[in-house]
Amino acid sequence: MKTQAENSKNRKKSVIENFADLTGEISNTFRFLAETGCRGFDCSKESIETVKKWGSSFFLPETLPEIRMSLDDCRRCKLSKGRKNIVFGEGDPHAKLVFIGEAPGYDEDQKGLPFVGAAGQLLTKIIQSMNLTRDKVYICNIIKCRPPGNRNPEPDEIETCMPFLSRQLLVIKPDFICTLGAIAAQSLLKTTTPVSRLKGRFHDYNGIKVMPTYHPAYLLRNPDKKRDVWDDMKKLMKEYKY
Ligand code: URA
Repeated sequence: MKTQAENSKNRKKSVIENFADLTGEISNTFRFLAETGCRGFDCSKESIETVKKWGSSFFLPETLPEIRMSLDDCRRCKLSKGRKNIVFGEGDPHAKLVFIGEAPGYDEDQKGLPFVGAAGQLLTKIIQSMNLTRDKVYICNIIKCRPPGNRNPEPDEIETCMPFLSRQLLVIKPDFICTLGAIAAQSLLKTTTPVSRLKGRFHDYNGIKVMPTYHPAYLLRNPDKKRDVWDDMKKLMKEYKY
């Protein structure tokens, strides 16, 4: 039998836990708003009255074509100077699974489509081995323009481009994300942990299960790592209900 003091201690603990959950949720929401480009709220009476006049459509969720349109002929970062095409992403706008790579390469820049070069062909085979097709998933990258000479994306380029990816994910609402390579996993999960330590288990991105794995371009150079990636995909497939 618990004493009154013990019961009160337990009650207190659960209030503290609830408070921690709530503050965690609030902090996640603000982080998400910041990532999707929100820079603050104008809650003045005039502003609220103006928005009210526009009707409720102001609050309708956007669509992928609208996000693409808002990018326009993007000049927000230095990569715009050397790119041929913006590589927005392609696939099912309601996909349950989204693959996120690093950045477009030469072939992707030429065609304006993600993962269409040699690494892309390997990714297509991986997707097919999972009993899926490219049009049943969504494929995109952390950044949408090719870095010169395929160098790694720089932090300012990632920061500028991320809000558009966050908005895409908000529209698609996938259950799963598979990040390909270190840059994708580390940028999405906001960590500097090496991909070798992140891979093979689920992480969380705004309630979406994230499975990091190696990049297909890395597999082309290190074919012995293909089995590791297949292990990660098997874990993903186990959770993914077809
Ligand atoms: N590598 C990537 O990370 N993304 C592509 O779209 C192509 C190659």
